[in-house]
Amino acid sequence: MTIRLPDLPPSSLPLCHTGDVPEGQAYGCLPDEDGQDRLFIVRQGGSLYAWRNACPHIAGAPMAWKRHAYLSADGRHVMCHAHGARFEPDTGLCVHGPCLGSRLLRVALHISPSGQISLANPHLTSLQASETTEKENFHERG
Ligand code: FES
Repeated sequence: MTIRLPDLPPSSLPLCHTGDVPEGQAYGCLPDEDGQDRLFIVRQGGSLYAWRNACPHIAGAPMAWKRHAYLSADGRHVMCHAHGARFEPDTGLCVHGPCLGSRLLRVALHISPSGQISLANPHLTSLQASETTEKENFHERG
């Protein structure tokens, strides 16, 4: 199944720096013309995971209730604040809520040696849902 997504800018556009995403927190990137982040990045267990800001419950629905607020109160899950769906931060799998068993759409990142984060795919206009099962996390080297 192919899910059409809005155009994203080329990978040369910096999203943020690794220092913007502390352990156990999320960071929203690339706000659209309505101020909604197109994607967000989560750091958990020292790894960074990037997801489209598009809840699978209602295709394309933004998930945060305010900027960068993508996690549950206990910080263990990515959470859609519309109807309370909870997702594993590392796999994007919905483990609670109305879209149980569905997945968030993963976004591959490029991280420069200086810690600058950008998109890995310069022509990201659509994603195959099956791609979301791939492990594409990033471990920072100390
Ligand atoms: S739109 Fe996300 S849980 Fe309903």
